[in-house]
Amino acid sequence: MKLFLDTGEVGQVQKAAELGILDGVTTNPTLIAKAGKGFRDTVLEICAALPGGAISAEVVATDYDEMLREAMEIASWHEQIVIKVPMIRDGVRLVSTLSDRGIRTNVTLVFSVTQALLAAKAGATYISNFVGRVDDIGGDGMEAVAATVEMIEAYGYASEVLVASVRHQQHMVQAIAAGAHVATLPFNVFEQMVKHPLTDLGLERFLADWRDAGLTIRSGTVAG
Ligand code: G3P
Repeated sequence: MKLFLDTGEVGQVQKAAELGILDGVTTNPTLIAKAGKGFRDTVLEICAALPGGAISAEVVATDYDEMLREAMEIASWHEQIVIKVPMIRDGVRLVSTLSDRGIRTNVTLVFSVTQALLAAKAGATYISNFVGRVDDIGGDGMEAVAATVEMIEAYGYASEVLVASVRHQQHMVQAIAAGAHVATLPFNVFEQMVKHPLTDLGLERFLADWRDAGLTIRSGTVAG
């Protein structure tokens, strides 16, 4: 499973990248606006912070011709960039064109398996299925993820199912169970993944026992 960070904050990308397990970053217009440093500069700084990573940057036009112009401009900035395209009619058309040109795409704001089928047929590299926003209105966002993974595998499409709008660890547990190919995480959820109270307790005990026994790894003075 690939792990992406869902952010426009370069500092968060740098911190997460230190672990050596980050595969990419997803941005959206809201996250870029929040970062407050301009679109191109932010995206290029993120590319530099995660060499080789897949960095999603979204078009903001909603008609095909302008979306295509924006997509070609954004794609020219850096080879790591994946063009993020909203799941609208002209968006599907744009993804077909970009696929033909060998440009990677991430279809965003996908909420149903039928939308996902269109994205897959258009040749989307990633299909971003939003879960948190469905849960927010009383639905089960993970249902469409599970159905989409099944659909992709049953028909053999090359698209990867990306779980987006992730809010907490339970979403990650469900994404793994569904066999999603990618999850994009807000920084706090990414950082929480490493944590478990029994890990902290267990480590505390190991270190206390070690200290009490006066043991040392390097020869010389005993620590503590
Ligand atoms: O980047 C798209 C998605 O992950 C946004 O999540 O929390 O705004 O629903 P959220």
